[in-house]
Amino acid sequence: MNKKIAVLTSGGDAPGLNAAIRAVVRAGNYYGYEVIGIKRGFKGLIEKEFEILDARKVSGFLNIGGTFLLTAREKRFYYKEYRKKAVENLKEKNIEALFVIGGNGSFQAANLLVKEFNFPVIGIPKTIDNDTYGTDYTIGFDTAVNTAVEAVEKIKDTSMSHERVFIVEVMGRNSGFIALSTGIATGADVILIPEYPFPLHVIVDTIVSGRKRGKNFFIIVLAEGVAKAQELAPIVEKELSKYGNFGEVRYSVLGYIQRGGSPTAYDRIIASKFGVFAVKHYIDGNINFMVSLENGKIMAKPLNISFN
Ligand code: F6P
Repeated sequence: MNKKIAVLTSGGDAPGLNAAIRAVVRAGNYYGYEVIGIKRGFKGLIEKEFEILDARKVSGFLNIGGTFLLTAREKRFYYKEYRKKAVENLKEKNIEALFVIGGNGSFQAANLLVKEFNFPVIGIPKTIDNDTYGTDYTIGFDTAVNTAVEAVEKIKDTSMSHERVFIVEVMGRNSGFIALSTGIATGADVILIPEYPFPLHVIVDTIVSGRKRGKNFFIIVLAEGVAKAQELAPIVEKELSKYGNFGEVRYSVLGYIQRGGSPTAYDRIIASKFGVFAVKHYIDGNINFMVSLENGKIMAKPLNISFN
């Protein structure tokens, strides 16, 4: 009987998930393992939604967004009885390790399987937010930034043509990585991120002094973790009106377009490398680790790096 490992995707989808699953499956098969795909993340783990994956089943997915294994945020995993059930399901199928392609929340849940039941878990970091502890990079971030950059550039055309101030709200949960990268790549006038709060007068001063230097349009890239664009726009508008006629401040919320779409070449490559590294490192005798990119090098870090 073949040795078995299992793979699932959990939490919000991110471009490159399919590429990562594909890499785990093909590397697993290469090293003689049968790879079981678990549907709908931890939900499928509890409900035994298992299917055997092989090279052919993961063919054609490398460039496709979303996750063909489906994903979910499973609340039942907060309860030990369900985590116990999950481990029983894995053991019943003779699965010896679980590969979780997820972010902070999923790794935290996965780590409980290690802590409570000593079940081997390997984490592969993904999220468009790039906010997973222990790694400089998470699968999906590059694609999300490129999507946001493209959108901001389109909005810039309107901003220039109408000489308007625009606020563009990007995702990122409580982190400002998407906003910062998007803002730098588009030459935004103001970038608002939770990690480095600006008072209102700095935003207003930047725009007012820009106008004095002859600039007629302004782009503010706003991380969702700072404020809602809908609420910030009238505040900035009111404050600016004290300094001249800046017109109405318009806003766009980019939302879920940042989560979908075909992964960039970078995300396809990093997802493939993460997946292969995860399997190879496991085969070499390591358990309970997460894959990490640090200073350009792929390495393993303890899975419990941020939640002991
Ligand atoms: O973590 C990815 C992300 O898209 C965040 O940027 C955002 O805050 C959140 O997920 C939205 O979550 P949901 O899919 O539950 O709406």
